[in-house]
Amino acid sequence: MRSQVGIIGAGPAGLLLGRLLHLQGIDTIILERRSGDYVLSRIRAGVLDGASVRALDEAQCDARLKRDGLFHDGFDIVAGNDRFHIDLTRHTGKQVIVYGQTEVTRDLMEARAGDGAPTLYEAEVIAMEDIADGPVRITYEQNGQRGEITCDYVAGCDGFHGIAAKQIPDDIRRTFERVYPFGWLGLFADVAPCSPELIYANHENGFALASMRSAKRSRYYIQCPIDADLNEWSDERVWDELAVRLGPEAAERMQRAPSIEKSIAPLRSFVAEPMRHGRLFLAGDAAHIVPPTGAKGLNLASADALVLSRALTALIKDGDPSLADNYSAERLRHVWKVERFSWWMTSMLHRFHDDDAFGARVQLAELDYLSGSEAAQKSLAENYVGLPF
Ligand code: APR
Ligand code: PHB
Repeated sequence: MRSQVGIIGAGPAGLLLGRLLHLQGIDTIILERRSGDYVLSRIRAGVLDGASVRALDEAQCDARLKRDGLFHDGFDIVAGNDRFHIDLTRHTGKQVIVYGQTEVTRDLMEARAGDGAPTLYEAEVIAMEDIADGPVRITYEQNGQRGEITCDYVAGCDGFHGIAAKQIPDDIRRTFERVYPFGWLGLFADVAPCSPELIYANHENGFALASMRSAKRSRYYIQCPIDADLNEWSDERVWDELAVRLGPEAAERMQRAPSIEKSIAPLRSFVAEPMRHGRLFLAGDAAHIVPPTGAKGLNLASADALVLSRALTALIKDGDPSLADNYSAERLRHVWKVERFSWWMTSMLHRFHDDDAFGARVQLAELDYLSGSEAAQKSLAENYVGLPF
């Protein structure tokens, strides 16, 4: 099989890129290791900033998100006994949209099916050859059989555990990483949210977040030890802890119900540079991971896909390599700002080491400053709604 662009991974980065290139008349094949149902069953974050809204608008896949998404003007921060509001719209003139990544993925999968563009599911890429000069040969395994695809360019949209980033030679590739000493225990329940907007809380027991997917479905998280055993966290224990950490006002409104999903995820910051080598371009989690505290993972993947679609379109349709040559440097400038923001939100809102009394006081001072400073709130707001790129 032959294609102008081979895309590895049918997460949001790969599907969005495929759709944007299709609209430019460029053909793509997507190879995805898992089944479509499996991809749709993964639970991920749910806040779209300007990057995702722009990308989905350009992909003409935003009808459902505009209809069913919840448009939020801000969120609350709870710090000890204090609860204050971050007014995104007043500070930036923009909103964010609460709409699950699963729904974004579903919308993009449907568009791709409508385009008649090929996605090979349960097809795992195992090797790539000639990424320096092309044409690139991608070898994959599907149902125990080997197949090969030849393409002019490859987009590695295969996530943190993918194969694409590892094709960049060791003497060129640099990685930067921070692993946090705690995890997030997340819970879904079919109850109304305890507040019309999100609540991020820093409590002495640890971080907590009240989020939602709809007026009838809530998503909650609490910080937990990295090695926490889910069996020791009954629903009741999680609800009790949420009530303590989110503060009395939220506790009073919080409805409890049996969880329909409950899991623990680690937190990590990670960047791999460069994001391009020869004919291979990286996008999304394949190139960078952020901790979920600023809700930026999906939004960074969307920004990558949008910029990469323009670069590949110029290269393939006009023979103009300038955008492609700039892709890595341009994206990394934005990526590092978002890494900084996600690291900062994480640092401000979580309990770190019990014995770091100095760090704990600095954190309280940071929250006190934020609660009283218009300038600090504006800075947070402009990062939260999405920096320009
Ligand atoms: N061959 C084919 N597919 C692969 C391979 C491989 N060797 N390795 C990984 N994949 C697939 C995975 O199965 C997965 O479906 O690549 C896909 C990558 O998708 P995501 O992990 O969703 O990554 P991305 O599209 O970059 O989306 C980023 O997802 O992880 C969240 O927080 C993150 O919200 C962000 C978003
Ligand atoms: C979520 O709803 O899953 C969510 C929202 C905001 C975050 C992280 C996750 O910062």
